[in-house]
Amino acid sequence: MGNQAKLSADGKDYEFPVLSGSVGPDVVDIRKLYGQSGLFTFDPGFTSTASCESALTYIDGEEGVLLHRGYPIGQLAEHSSFMEVSYLLLNGELPSKDELDTFTYTISRHTMLHEQLLQFYRGFRRDAHPMAVMCGVVGALSAFYHDSTDISDPEHRTISSHRLIAKMPTIAAAAYKYAIGQPFLYPDNSLSYTGNFMRMTFGVPAEPYDLHPAVEKAMDRIFILHADHEQNASTSTVRLAGSSGANPFACIAAGIACLWGPAHGGANEAALNMLHEIGTPDKIPHYIERAKDKNDPFRLMGFGHRVYKNYDPRATVMQKTVREVFDALKVDNPVFETALRLEEIALSDDYFVEKKLFPNVDFYSGIILSAIGFPTTMFTVLFALARTVGWVAQWNEMISDPHQKIGRPRQLYTGPTQRDYVAIDKR
Ligand code: CMC
Repeated sequence: MGNQAKLSADGKDYEFPVLSGSVGPDVVDIRKLYGQSGLFTFDPGFTSTASCESALTYIDGEEGVLLHRGYPIGQLAEHSSFMEVSYLLLNGELPSKDELDTFTYTISRHTMLHEQLLQFYRGFRRDAHPMAVMCGVVGALSAFYHDSTDISDPEHRTISSHRLIAKMPTIAAAAYKYAIGQPFLYPDNSLSYTGNFMRMTFGVPAEPYDLHPAVEKAMDRIFILHADHEQNASTSTVRLAGSSGANPFACIAAGIACLWGPAHGGANEAALNMLHEIGTPDKIPHYIERAKDKNDPFRLMGFGHRVYKNYDPRATVMQKTVREVFDALKVDNPVFETALRLEEIALSDDYFVEKKLFPNVDFYSGIILSAIGFPTTMFTVLFALARTVGWVAQWNEMISDPHQKIGRPRQLYTGPTQRDYVAIDKR
């Protein structure tokens, strides 16, 4: 018999198995708690709850470690490509050259959208936030690709996964084109996954698009950095939506909706807006004081993380990538100096040190994306595009698990107990 955890409540003792993963904290298996004791656990925000078993991504927040299928994010960002990381997340192992070529080719065969889906965009107001468009258009995919929505069929699951990964750049680029009033561009499958997205976003039908190799590489790396992140809010949303048997297109649309919030994927947009608001380094102390003031809702955006209590390893790569993009594009932006100074001041301030608040992935990403030419409203869209791979891999892992059940949390009820209905003239 392995380790057991003991609980005493109302004079009775209960024992629960303690399960171990390959690395990371053990978990107390409390699945029989309610049946045996009539008690629930209470953990709003899931700060101490493992919601599932997963073999995809591991984070050690104290040490600032992020591994995909065992490979450190720094190594993947440096040596791999987004297509290769996608294959790794979906299949568990790095591909051989042939496997990678076949996977990349397969994805490239699904990049076009159903022509009628393009009509869908015209129903949105021109000034709609592109994330609103993403929620709608991705949700609508299930109305166009019925032939891959039988989730009990592994072949259908594979096709819909490939479709989602392949179509997301086309959908995201079209959301941008619609907002600025330019014609949609069809995919060019002779380009890389990321190069194709850059062309569909920044190219125009009237002229050839000049793809900058260093920028294409930086963008690909940004996609790698956002590909997956364990059981974060949007991934948990995708899993919960999928646990009911909903089709994958609807589940990913749910993930996009969750990602939009400023505490999650919306933070990169909020972080750059904040840096612009701060403006020059001399204003930093004022904003640091505001962030520390409990009566002021202001927070340093791009700072702090539920899991990382150390430097987010993705932020390290992002910071390096800012310099590379600036050098490649021969641009400079004083906002980067403000960001570096803000980080320095915050990391030497007792408030941030004691609460272990470090820059996260979103702190520097906005500076790079803005230098490349994306408006702030597109930042979270790019996050969604890349995270689609993680969502799809996590969804597949869940559906293929024979023990999978619908996700159905319980609650601590604090409302009125049963009472009798009172007629309207007696209230
Ligand atoms: N600025 C100032 N104070 C902060 C910040 C911040 N950015 N983040 C956390 N704190 C304080 C917070 O006020 C609290 O203080 P106290 O214990 O005195 O009440 C303490 O630190 C713990 O914060 P929390 O909100 O209880 O922690 P959480 O784990 O629930 O929230 C978070 C994590 C990421 C939502 C939060 O740190 C935050 O709002 N950060 C800014 C938004 C942001 O950058 N989000 C991107 C996250 S990374 C990308 C992604 O996953 O999507």
